[in-house]
Amino acid sequence: MVSIGFMVRHGAARRYRSLQEKDTIMDESSSALECRKEKPIADEADFKTHKKGISKEEIVQAYSEWSKNGNYEAEMNLICYQGPFIAAAALAECINEVDRSSQYILDLAAGSGRLGEELAKYGFTNIDALDASDGMLKEAEKKNVYKKLICEYFDNDTDIPDDSYDVLIISGGMGEGHIPANSLKKMRKIVKKGGLVVIVMRKQYLSCVEDYENLLPMMTKMEEDKEWQTVSQKTVADYSFNNQGMVFIFRVLH
Ligand SMILES: C[S@@+](CC[C@H](N)C(=O)[O-])C[C@H]1O[C@@H](n2cnc3c(N)ncnc32)[C@H](O)[C@@H]1O
Repeated sequence: MVSIGFMVRHGAARRYRSLQEKDTIMDESSSALECRKEKPIADEADFKTHKKGISKEEIVQAYSEWSKNGNYEAEMNLICYQGPFIAAAALAECINEVDRSSQYILDLAAGSGRLGEELAKYGFTNIDALDASDGMLKEAEKKNVYKKLICEYFDNDTDIPDDSYDVLIISGGMGEGHIPANSLKKMRKIVKKGGLVVIVMRKQYLSCVEDYENLLPMMTKMEEDKEWQTVSQKTVADYSFNNQGMVFIFRVLH
């Protein structure tokens, strides 16, 4: 496995020269304090969207509710939640600047479109957004960075055709009742040979979300079966509310 040291170039809150620099600054600055101030509100909303046994319908309802009046954007601000920064920087590290505009990208569980915005800053301009919540997609539409908006709950039964995208990227879409573990194969299938699957998620979910108990073994099995190859697997600090995150990048081999 190759570990990457990607650069975070953009951001409304702060610009970092590297993720290492980000970790140092986040520890020293008032950002941690600001984050703690926001935490109770966002924690409550986070609880609603990640409670044990949450159904598809409840997910859609909870996120649509949270999206109203820009509440999701305000509470999950880029000081407290770094997912979109981290995901966009990780992808940019893998693809040369000149090739970025030709990459056809699926932002899976796009939410309010923060990742699309970050990707656009790096020169990725060919992006579709998929999300289960109509309310979140309405927010994403306002960002004017997506070619297509797809409202569906993504699972193994999605009818997105095989080999549709060069890149499938997820920031914050994994969690209790969220994107199911058994849709990994589907993710791989809808990405073209040589393309990338990028998954950025809270590390804790690998152990506390029952459906993800087999996520790592499934990823490994797909590597053994030569369906994809690990480009990098990295733990990052301060993914959200001072929790660590995981950044998985796979290259599709089939
Ligand atoms: C925490 S938000 C992350 C949104 C965005 N990617 C970001 O980083 O700000 C999680 C999003 O995942 C969506 N979601 C959860 N499970 C999903 C699924 N199986 N298919 C599609 N969207 C899903 C929710 O509707 C919500 O908008």
